[in-house]
This record gives sequence, structure tokens and C-alpha cells, in this order.
Amino acid sequence: MKLPFVLAKRFVAGETFDQSIPKVRHLNSHGIKVTLDLLGENVKDRQMADDTVESYIQLIKNIHTAGLKSTISIKLTMLGLDIDESYCMNNLSKLLDCAREHDTFVRIDMEGSDNTQITIDLFKEAFKEYGKHVGIVIQAYLHRSKDDIPDLASIGADVRLCKGAYSEPERIALQNMPAIREAFKEYARILLDKTTYPRIATHDDELVDWVKTYVLEQNLGKSRFEFQMLYGLREETMIELTDEGYNTRVYVPYGTMWFPYFKRRLLERKENIFFVASTMFKK
Ligand code: FDA
Repeated sequence: MKLPFVLAKRFVAGETFDQSIPKVRHLNSHGIKVTLDLLGENVKDRQMADDTVESYIQLIKNIHTAGLKSTISIKLTMLGLDIDESYCMNNLSKLLDCAREHDTFVRIDMEGSDNTQITIDLFKEAFKEYGKHVGIVIQAYLHRSKDDIPDLASIGADVRLCKGAYSEPERIALQNMPAIREAFKEYARILLDKTTYPRIATHDDELVDWVKTYVLEQNLGKSRFEFQMLYGLREETMIELTDEGYNTRVYVPYGTMWFPYFKRRLLERKENIFFVASTMFKK
């Protein structure tokens, strides 16, 4: 059964690229950049993965033609990671060729812990060839991030730091919020000290304020990093941050395969369930 899109519209910009354009333009008009994500994950057959590569390539071209200030975010399981690793790498290279040609950037989102190592491996391989056109995500809740963060910082990787959105067991990930926040601060500090332009992805005021204070104390300058938030959450805060002189970017997902993304947003914060419930009862 297909659920009606009205449920997801709080968190998802549209089912098509065209439906998302006004939302991207609106954010851009406030000085907020965007990363567009064509939703979907865990593609199981080659035809679908091939089609997805074509869709991502088309997306880069469409962003360019429409003159939007947007990069793209992708998931390797959409490019065939579950089918074959070298096939996935080949697809990633095709996409990055197009990104380089259009002088834009592709962020590889981080998925569940079964895929962490291979995602980092493929990112590193791509980074050697495509440099500034590709970046990765690290999840602060993973125990292994204490090694991954310094390692990626040492090669000058472009890292988006987030808490982590997947349900992981205790042996793999921190389980309580104070510990996750402390890890996040520690990794943000390393990235701010050692990389040229880290991306701080959180809606959490404690972390946003900590980063602002750290940057001020260290005299790093507001242009040395970027705050990132998700579409539909805290837009006013993003506008305020932009007006204060910080660089900002909103992650804007769109597409028909919105259910897994939508479910993660509902599970991570009870208020998000209320948002959806109120949408259902509005005309
Ligand atoms: P969290 O939900 O932990 O809330 C902490 C506190 O922040 C709340 O108690 C409240 O005070 C405040 N807050 C949160 N939301 C608010 C709201 N809407 N309004 C007011 N206050 C609010 N994950 C992943 O595993 N892989 C990935 O690739 C990515 N990519 C990604 C990109 C971007 C741009 C973002 C922002 C996030 C991701 N994530 C992700 C998701 C991330 O891992 C995490 O699940 C969510 O950001 C939720 O954690 P937060 O720190 O944002 O707030």
C-alpha cells in the first residue's frame, strides 16, 4: 500500500525535482545553500542502480540549468553497493565525472553500520581522484568514529558530522544523548582544527552554541565551516544563523521513495510525530 505524500510533506520537498525547485529557491533567497537528495536506498538490481546513476546525473544537470545553489547528497546503496562493490565504485565515478564537469560536489551520506567501512573505503578511493568534488559523513554515535575522524582529517577530507540516525547496538554505538553530544563536540573540535571546511549537521542548540563559542574562542572565523539542518526543521534558526554571518545549508530530500527517510525522522524525535499528525488534520 502506498501512503499518501501529504504525510511526508513536512520533511520531504516533493515527489519530483520540479516540485522541489520553489522550496530550494525560497531557501536560496535567504542566503541558505542546499544539498538535494533524491530519496531511496538499498537498490537490489543493476537496472535500478543504472537508472539511479542516470537520475543523479540528470539532477546535477537540472540544478545547473535551474541556477540553484545546491549540491547533491547520495547513498551508496542506491548506486549498487549491495550488489557489488566495484560496480558501485564504477557508478560513483560516473557520477563524479559529471560533478567535476559541472564544478559541483557530491556528499556520500552515511548509512547503517554494516556499510561504514566500505563507504569510507570507496570515499577514500574517490577522494584520490576527485578531491574537492566529493565528501563523506561521520556519525558521532559510532565508537569507531574516534579513529575515523582523525584519519579522515589527516587526509583533508570534507566531512559532514552528524549524530547518527540508524538504530545500532551498544557494542557499535553510544546509546545516551549526553555521551553522543560529548563525542560530537570532540569530533567537531578536531574537524574545525584540522580540516578546511567541516559541515556541522545538527538541530541541537547545545551543539550549535558550543560550535559558535569554540570558533569565537579560537578565532577561526565564521566562514571556516557550515551549519547544516534538514528540510522542514528549524528554518527560522537557519535564517537567523545566516543573518548572523554563518554559512548554512539545508538538506532537501525529494522523490517517491520517501518512506524510510520519513520513518527515521519520526523515530528520532517525538515532536516530529506531532508535526505529521497536525498535517493530517489540516486541509
Ligand atoms: P536531536 O533529534 O538529537 O535533538 C536534540 C535536541 O535538539 C532536542 O532535544 C531539541 O532541543 C533540539 N531540536 C532538535 N530538533 C529540533 C527542532 N525541529 N526544533 C527545535 N529544536 C530541535 N544521519 C545519518 O545517519 N547519516 C547521514 O548521512 C545523515 N545526514 C544528515 C544531514 C543533515 C544535514 C542533518 C541535519 C542530519 C543528518 N543525519 C544523518 C541525521 C542525524 O544523524 C540525526 O539523526 C538528526 O540530525 C537528529 O539529531 P540532532 O542533533 O539534529 O537533534
